[in-house]
Amino acid sequence: MLGRSRFQGRIAVVTGAGAGLGAATARRLGAEGAILVLVDIDAERSKTTAAELQRIGAKAIAVQADVSDPAGVEQIKEAASSFGGADILVNNAARATDGDLLALSTQAIAQDIAVTLTGPVLCAQALLPGMIAKRSGVICNIGSVNALAYFGNEAYSAAKAGLVSFTRSLAARYGPLGIRSNMVAPGTMRTGIWSQRLENDPTVLDRLSRWYPLGRIGEPEDVVGAIAFLCSDEASWISGAMLVVDGGLTSGYPQMAADISGNNS
Ligand SMILES: NC(=O)c1ccc[n+]([C@@H]2O[C@H](COP(=O)([O-])OP(=O)(O)OC[C@H]3O[C@@H](n4cnc5c(N)ncnc54)[C@H](O)[C@@H]3O)[C@@H](O)[C@H]2O)c1
Repeated sequence: MLGRSRFQGRIAVVTGAGAGLGAATARRLGAEGAILVLVDIDAERSKTTAAELQRIGAKAIAVQADVSDPAGVEQIKEAASSFGGADILVNNAARATDGDLLALSTQAIAQDIAVTLTGPVLCAQALLPGMIAKRSGVICNIGSVNALAYFGNEAYSAAKAGLVSFTRSLAARYGPLGIRSNMVAPGTMRTGIWSQRLENDPTVLDRLSRWYPLGRIGEPEDVVGAIAFLCSDEASWISGAMLVVDGGLTSGYPQMAADISGNNS
């Protein structure tokens, strides 16, 4: 049943809510009282998350929409309006095509950027007027360590870096109207986004653990607390911030330090 209620009665739109971090975020916000608009391009997935939330007594509706498609974004806006307008937007849906940049089709590149960057811009544009009317609203953009350093997926990473700028622009432009905008930047989490790579190499996630100072990759549940915090009133004076949640990955380069000290055995 419902636990703490930091989000009692608040309307939260979560994109990419049918799996991974989006589903985990929806579960957390729903368990704390939020009314959820669960957006996913895959209708079955968002319906599954909605059913899960309804079982714990939370109110949730599933919306099938592509965040990079203006018509889909209009549907998201209508769904949020039917509840009274969004109080919280978690821009979580993203897309990354694996492969050498030089071999990627222009279509794949355009889609990665459209879903990862244009989608959050369109969703914010659609939901901000309702938030401004209430003089209150929170946007949490899901970034990535890929916005900060090179870990592959060049087009996706560039889109995530663009999202850092967008997060800060929203904070500066709409702060005076009662809107907060922040980013959570996760490191590797065990989600479906890795399924193709796991098919190619079942050990890939285990091998990555050695790069993480805390000795393991993350689970979505390692990241949702940061998202919920930034969406809550506990963060009422935090805006334009990026909270990196990455098991220490981007805090330094121990392998390089070992090279410097000659202690790399
Ligand atoms: N998993 C990781 O290692 C990792 C690391 C850093 C950042 N992230 C970020 O975390 C967020 C969530 O990723 P995840 O790992 O949970 O992914 P995931 O693949 O498990 O889930 C993503 C969900 O988004 C949906 N989706 C995809 N395209 C969409 C679109 N155009 N419109 C609406 N929904 C769409 C998918 O159907 C899926 O249900 C993303 O922003 C991702 O970039 C993930």
